[in-house]
Amino acid sequence: MDIPRLHPDTLEEVKQRVDIYDVISDYVVLKKRGKDYVGLCPFHDEKTPSFSVSPHKQLYYCFGCGEGGNAIKFLMEVGKQSFSDVVFDLAKRYQVPIKTLEPEQRQELQRQLSLREQLYEILALTTSFYQHALHQPQGETALNYLKHERQLSDATIQQFQLGYAPAGWETLYRYLIEQKRYPIPLAEEAGLIALRKTGSGYYDRFRDRLIIPITDLQGRVIGFGSRTLGDEQPKYLNSPETTLFNKGNTLFALDKAKNSIRSLDKVVVVEGYFDAIALHAVGISNTVASLGTAFSQVQLKQLLRYTDSKQVIFNFDGDLAGKKATQRAITDLESLIYSGQVQLRILNLPDGKDADEFLRSHANGVKRFHQLIENAPLWFDWQIQQLLVDQDLKKADHFEQVAQEMVKLLNRIENSNKRTYYIRYCAEILSQGDTLSLPLYIKNLQRQLKKPNLSSTNKNSSSLGIKNFSHAEDTQLEQAEALLLRIYLHCPEYRPEIFNQLEEKDLAFSVSEYRFLWQKISEIEADVKDINNKLISLLQEQILQLSYSMTEFNHIFHLSQNHQENIHRSPLQIHCALIFMEKAKLEKYSNYSYQKYKNIDPNIDSKTQQYYLNEYYTSKRKIKQLESSLSFSHLEIYGKY
Ligand code: UTP
Ligand code: MN
Repeated sequence: MDIPRLHPDTLEEVKQRVDIYDVISDYVVLKKRGKDYVGLCPFHDEKTPSFSVSPHKQLYYCFGCGEGGNAIKFLMEVGKQSFSDVVFDLAKRYQVPIKTLEPEQRQELQRQLSLREQLYEILALTTSFYQHALHQPQGETALNYLKHERQLSDATIQQFQLGYAPAGWETLYRYLIEQKRYPIPLAEEAGLIALRKTGSGYYDRFRDRLIIPITDLQGRVIGFGSRTLGDEQPKYLNSPETTLFNKGNTLFALDKAKNSIRSLDKVVVVEGYFDAIALHAVGISNTVASLGTAFSQVQLKQLLRYTDSKQVIFNFDGDLAGKKATQRAITDLESLIYSGQVQLRILNLPDGKDADEFLRSHANGVKRFHQLIENAPLWFDWQIQQLLVDQDLKKADHFEQVAQEMVKLLNRIENSNKRTYYIRYCAEILSQGDTLSLPLYIKNLQRQLKKPNLSSTNKNSSSLGIKNFSHAEDTQLEQAEALLLRIYLHCPEYRPEIFNQLEEKDLAFSVSEYRFLWQKISEIEADVKDINNKLISLLQEQILQLSYSMTEFNHIFHLSQNHQENIHRSPLQIHCALIFMEKAKLEKYSNYSYQKYKNIDPNIDSKTQQYYLNEYYTSKRKIKQLESSLSFSHLEIYGKY
């Protein structure tokens, strides 16, 4: 569907509700630094973070490549989406009612929105249907299973809204028909029923199964997991992917875990629904489960939002399949792991048990589980441990193989301190206690490692130079104008003065981009009251809507370290900048006067000619005065940029 033109109210509300941290942390692992967050820039290749996000200003900026803007701009860039697409998606995400300019389109939107709303409702209704069935005679086996085999309390059963899908092909289907609340095809779209092969009538997807509702971050049911009570295959059957339910983007129990992930500053990831439920039941509630699919980058990034120190513990099954899954996850998430953006630990429980089995089979399970979490090896150590399984370093071929695998792993560690540490760690293993020859093993490993790649860091720093300084600021006047705009945008207290001075002296910006910005600023200020800190984002909005490239203006919107240090000298800087602009204006005028003087024939109009000559001299004199009022110390300000 074509996205309709959105009403300004909708745009306004989206901007109010959207949180830049929330948006960007879907794509970038952000670490707190002072008031801001930093991470690796998604727009260029880099190894040290120069991408910063300010929740306070609701802006991001990359000091490496110069990309910057607000949340909307970010989504436009990463998703290569149009402005209105992004605003529309955000409106849905933050549940902002959408108003459009054209009424027909409003209806279509209403229809789409109410489809989602209705899907939530029918899933909620179905959840209560299954919950109710669990406590009916037909649900007895299921309830006993939960209480006795899984040893779950009523409170936990309630908390996770566990239920039972009755046997029979049409129980839910008939119930939904009786309810007459929702059109039946909607139940199909929600993945609850499926069309019969014969083409007429529907049958229930879940039959005679335990039901485990899967919720989104707000706790709304978006799909179901289900487990057979017998030996039927598959053991677990999930809802299909729907408008609301995407397995690769969802983590089971995250809504119930997020607060404790925040407060404990770490998260445990398990494989099974019942592992997560069992851990929550004993108070280890910083636990989530993946949904039977490979653990994705999107899922990891979601988790990393809630832990400042980025501690993630994978507790996959301890059996061979579980170890393979762990290995696969490490490979899939490699770019985040090897660059140190996540502190990953691997917990394999004793005897290859999963968390649920472990807790049920140990008297002191909870305490021991906590200890095991604390002692879980870092992913790298875990990988080294895995290398050594069934290997005898006394045998030459085994030794050779282990050493080679170690080199492969070491080669990928990007941080050089970490590398040095692990080279020694590996050498210690290889030396098998022979401390005298340890240095030899270290040297040997070092020799086999590739030299760390420095070129990319160099590239970044040079691109930083080019991007930031090749802009319009290469003459003093242009620098002065940029500076004036920067102060205007970032220091509201100086706005009246700058505004009045520009008006009074009738000064215009010489750089066309800056003239354009000033024009937009004046428009916004005429329209909006109480503008204060909103000016930058409003301005960016305007620019985006006009499909201008924001990079032209980034050096105005964002203060570099240097700018920040200098901004306290604002009054002096304003003064100097205005002088430069005034001087430029006078120079233009003196040129103009001189041209006039030369082109006028004194025999025809000597009076006018004389007038322009005077003008020429006067403006030259004023220029001299202005220049002398700029002492050397004033000039120095500009030398710094
Ligand atoms: P497992 O089958 O490894 O868990 O499935 P388990 O501990 O042995 O299961 P229980 O304790 O007997 O109930 C782990 C997870 O993998 C997904 C589910 O999400 C399940 O929680 N899975 C498993 C499926 O999606 N389909 C299956 O057929 C099996
Ligand atoms: Mn299990």
